[in-house]
Amino acid sequence: MVTVPARTTEAALSWSTLGIGRIMFVVPATGPAACITFGGQDIGGLDTGRESGYTAITLREDTKLGLGQLSNSRQSGHLQQIMSAKSSPLSHNASLPYPPELVRRRYDRLAPWYRLFEWIFWLPRGIRGRAIRKLDLQQGDTVLEIGCGTGRNLPYLQDAVGSNGHIFGVDVSERMLARSQALCERTGWKNVTLVRTDALDYHAPRMLDAVLFGLSYAVMQNGKRILNHAWSQLRTGGCAVIVDGKTMPGIAGRLLHPLVILEMKATVLGDPDHNACADLRSLTDEVTVEEELFGAYFICQGRKGT
Ligand SMILES: C[S@@+](CC[C@H](N)C(=O)[O-])C[C@H]1O[C@@H](n2cnc3c(N)ncnc32)[C@H](O)[C@@H]1O
Repeated sequence: MVTVPARTTEAALSWSTLGIGRIMFVVPATGPAACITFGGQDIGGLDTGRESGYTAITLREDTKLGLGQLSNSRQSGHLQQIMSAKSSPLSHNASLPYPPELVRRRYDRLAPWYRLFEWIFWLPRGIRGRAIRKLDLQQGDTVLEIGCGTGRNLPYLQDAVGSNGHIFGVDVSERMLARSQALCERTGWKNVTLVRTDALDYHAPRMLDAVLFGLSYAVMQNGKRILNHAWSQLRTGGCAVIVDGKTMPGIAGRLLHPLVILEMKATVLGDPDHNACADLRSLTDEVTVEEELFGAYFICQGRKGT
């Protein structure tokens, strides 16, 4: 992590590329929001989060450095968009979701207790089965689960694709994945390939019939980019399904919101104010959404049209 002054230049950005993977700039936030401008170009790979008076900017490796300028004025339309999305009345949680490295460490610690959280967060009974039916899988199909964790969805995916099908599972957390691996060994499944990586860097070895985000979208800092990346690997006619929790509509949601944020930060790091369904709608018109538990959970299905 490199701390740079509130006003800095391309030189400071370039100088900071010594980091591997993601580079974190921490800019003292004297103004309403720190901004990054890159000569009006789409820089890609920019995420922001506000943490105790600082604006943290994570640049991905593929960001073209040296073309931009970091300042504390509000000049960058791109960043303003991100900041205003984070400053809706419900957003006291600008630091959620967290960078993958932090997520990885948290889930490595949670892995032995993971099942408990289904109970703590009132995961609706049967929601996994209902989500997987929405993938519209046939025997012999190939499916990718992004953030597959301890493998709680694997039995349903197995039933859906059969032993002739194939399941790819990716996750950043080694210990979560180890539990998936143990499950595969116990059950003797030979058609599951598990990969430990940030989903943004994963390329499936073949075209996918379906993609599942099982309770993982809200945890992903780069959710929309990961969705777009997975979508590009989905065959025409295939389905992507996101099943997750979210802020409940209405007064109940508003009242419970601070408590949910506290619980999330202390446990599974999910951001209940994500835009999963809107993100899916930006890719296809063929989207259906089903809500459960008074809108606290949803299953969103998007089909890739021609
Ligand atoms: C709440 S768990 C869900 C696990 C499982 N899909 C389920 O339904 O029980 C979220 C999982 O997403 C993984 N995850 C979060 N961000 C990720 C990323 N950028 N790339 C890959 N996996 C990620 C976490 O490590 C964690 O195992």
